[in-house]
Amino acid sequence: AAPPLVDSFGRTHTSLRLSVTDRCNIRCVYCMPGEQVLFLPRREVLTFEELERFVRVSARLGVRQVRLTGGEPLVRSELSELVRRLVGIAGIDEVTLTTNGVLLDRHAAELKAAGLDRLNISLDTVRPEAFRELTRRDLLPEVLRGIEAAQQAGFSSIRINAIAMRGVTEQEIVPLGRFARERALELRFIEYMPLDADASWRRDQVLSGDEILAALEAEFGPLSPAPRSDPSQPARDYAFADGGVVGFINPVTQPFCSDCNRLRLTAEGQIRNCLFSPEEWDARRLLRDGASDGDLARLIREAVAAKRAGHGIDAPGFHRPDRAMYQIGG
Ligand code: GTP
Ligand code: 5AD
Ligand code: SF4
Repeated sequence: AAPPLVDSFGRTHTSLRLSVTDRCNIRCVYCMPGEQVLFLPRREVLTFEELERFVRVSARLGVRQVRLTGGEPLVRSELSELVRRLVGIAGIDEVTLTTNGVLLDRHAAELKAAGLDRLNISLDTVRPEAFRELTRRDLLPEVLRGIEAAQQAGFSSIRINAIAMRGVTEQEIVPLGRFARERALELRFIEYMPLDADASWRRDQVLSGDEILAALEAEFGPLSPAPRSDPSQPARDYAFADGGVVGFINPVTQPFCSDCNRLRLTAEGQIRNCLFSPEEWDARRLLRDGASDGDLARLIREAVAAKRAGHGIDAPGFHRPDRAMYQIGG
């Protein structure tokens, strides 16, 4: 077998996050520009055949988990067909999806049938007015139906991802907590990162995971740290005394880069070794120019070898990427 994808800091890469589109059906303020979004022309986006080949080559290098992201992955037509193909690749143990849930009502059952292992749903508020402000769309009922559909379809351990922004989402924390607890959903709070399209992120807008933890404890009682089964998972989990788990993804105040096992591929086929990667490696050119699997494997290794120690958000001279989250993949 080929040697694993180990970078210069000893981190082994087993997880691949594939963006299947940069398009989205909502416009979250921390990710997308308000109007006039310039999306990629379709011919620039990788086809299912190209994605499948990239994953096959990655799997030979030790990638075991694939997460589909975007944009909103479910705006890509026939996404379940892609899931079916990826699930069938030798070496791939888990295919998962991160979605905003708007189209889940329509697709949950077919995703389950296609072999999707798990899904995470982004939802920052359960209040309709706040949803409209945060996403610039009025689609909360669709998302709530999507969550129900996912549960009905038999998905278990569904995670709800909520972005936290100071001055914006404080009032959402407790209602979201209650919502998740009532439905046995695992809620996770994510610190706001400098990946918004408007480049308006400021360090003082980061509402830290510890502050959210305190707000939850004030309402629901003490939370105790739960053991982590997989050290490369970014979330730190806490258990409520009466059952249920809440997780914290704290990339800004408690970076987890030293345990990073992730590689990314953008919708137009550029490899990134980090969300904050200053460089990209053009896999699409190889995929379309008749390059061999060996050439692709070499490109992937090159990207891994160049990976930095961490994102350096708090380091002097930090430069945010020139792409926003929807252009990289969540
Ligand atoms: P699980 O397998 O369920 O643990 O999924 P996950 O947490 O790896 O994936 P998900 O797409 O749900 O991630 C939620 C959010 O966490 C992302 O949208 C990012 O905001 C953040 N995140 C995930 N992976 C990374 C990472 O490698 N680095 C940083 N800085 N943030 C990440
Ligand atoms: N900071 C942190 N997470 C972000 N996401 C989008 N933009 C940001 C940001 N600026 C997350 C969404 C969703 C995933 C696709 O990416 O909340 O869970
Ligand atoms: Fe990995 Fe980069 Fe995320 Fe750090 S910021 S965990 S290095 S992807």
